[in-house]
Amino acid sequence: MMKITQICYFGMLNVLLILMFSCSCINAATAADEVNLYTTKMTGYNRSLRPGLSPDTALNVYMAFYIVSINEFDETGGKFSVVGFYEIRWEDDRLSWNPASYGGLNRIYYSQSEVWVPQMKPVNTMKDGHTFGANDVKIRVSPSGETTWRLAEFLETSCSADITFYPFDVQICRIDLVQLGYYYEDLVLTPMLTKIGTEFYEENGIWEIKSTNVSATYFNTLHYITFEFVLKRRSGFFIVNMLLPILMMGFLNLFVFILPAESGERVGYSITLLLSISVFLTLISDTLPPTSQPQMPILSFILMSDLVMSSLTMCCTIVGLRFYHNEEDKVIPRYLQTFVNCLSCAKLKKRNKVQELESADEHNSIINVTESKEKQTLKKQTRKEEKTEIKDVTTWGKFSNILQREESDGTEVKMGTTWKQFAMYFDVFCFIFFAIWITVTNVVFLQKTVWRQDY
Ligand SMILES: *[C@@H]1O[C@H](CO)[C@@H](O)[C@H](O)[C@H]1NC(C)=O
Ligand SMILES: *[C@@H]1O[C@H](CO)[C@@H](O)[C@H](O)[C@H]1NC(C)=O
Repeated sequence: MMKITQICYFGMLNVLLILMFSCSCINAATAADEVNLYTTKMTGYNRSLRPGLSPDTALNVYMAFYIVSINEFDETGGKFSVVGFYEIRWEDDRLSWNPASYGGLNRIYYSQSEVWVPQMKPVNTMKDGHTFGANDVKIRVSPSGETTWRLAEFLETSCSADITFYPFDVQICRIDLVQLGYYYEDLVLTPMLTKIGTEFYEENGIWEIKSTNVSATYFNTLHYITFEFVLKRRSGFFIVNMLLPILMMGFLNLFVFILPAESGERVGYSITLLLSISVFLTLISDTLPPTSQPQMPILSFILMSDLVMSSLTMCCTIVGLRFYHNEEDKVIPRYLQTFVNCLSCAKLKKRNKVQELESADEHNSIINVTESKEKQTLKKQTRKEEKTEIKDVTTWGKFSNILQREESDGTEVKMGTTWKQFAMYFDVFCFIFFAIWITVTNVVFLQKTVWRQDY
């Protein structure tokens, strides 16, 4: 048994050795073969002449670009730099050979400076004197004459950013290569792949490659090949560090109208917020290119709106304080009274609706209060006006105890609308007005940026 297996192993080993030997025999191209092929092909080879069986047929040059990393995208300077490599293929029939005549040699490498290569130039490059294939690299040639030229490049191209939707923007950057010498009927640039190769790509922290496209076009006998990147900004950082603080500051502005007027903190609070918003405005405008074309960032408008709102909030705070501290015996002007009445009307309607749902007990008590107050105030104002007013005070007490800072007891109410009450109305009005302002602006911002179709 042992012997048989040993013989088997021995036999298999022999077969393997023979196979290996014969394999190397078939492919036994020697260094001499290579030298031979090289000298044969290079004698009489003129690298100034375009390859091609006939001068009338166009030479196809296939190109692909593989991106390795996005080095930088500077929106302010409009500079986009990438690291990557091109793979360029064409057929040079003068370099083809029959492998059998050269010991089965199936590839050979020439220096880039020894054979014909297509001359190309990045059109939108930012680097002065950038020549395509500046380094002398080897070109691989297969027996059919197919050449493969791989070029590693650090490319700096111009790419003007459209920051309308910053920080939820999508940018399109291109690498344009132009074939300068040959007309398009003599040399045709053809994309090897429809997309940019991302097999070697390292993700970028700020930009995400959304899609890529490769296309070739000609314009007035010039042949272009365009490698296009569609980049989407990763906006997490900006949301946390910019948008949320801005949003919060906007909302904080509203709360100045809740701050008790007696505390004396209102103006200080408003100024602090106004300053914070200005600081943010400066910070953000530093990161953005100072362009107005194609459009200013929507974010700038939002910040401006916040700033305007903050300024108005401050004005209203000061005016409100003025009202609050007015002498009580000073008569409230008619137009201000109308303003209060308007507000009361709005609330009265609301209140009537609520009242229908209220229990009978509560209903009665309110009416009693209203009636007693009515009696007290009949002398000074017309019945109609006063009714509205007092009903409203009661409602207001129900709707928001937090906002109401002064006691709405009988003694104060019987004076009609006091300045303190008026200031309270004014605060409520401002609170609602600015709440609507901030909600609308923020919703519009989100709708224009995040919730748009192409994002
Ligand atoms: C290649 O051809 C051009 C034009 O015919 C000629 O001027 C040049 O000297 C040739 N170069 C070589 C290396 O033979
Ligand atoms: C790529 O670009 C070409 C030319 O601009 C265009 O016709 C084609 O639709 C684009 N392809 C994609 C997938 O965007």
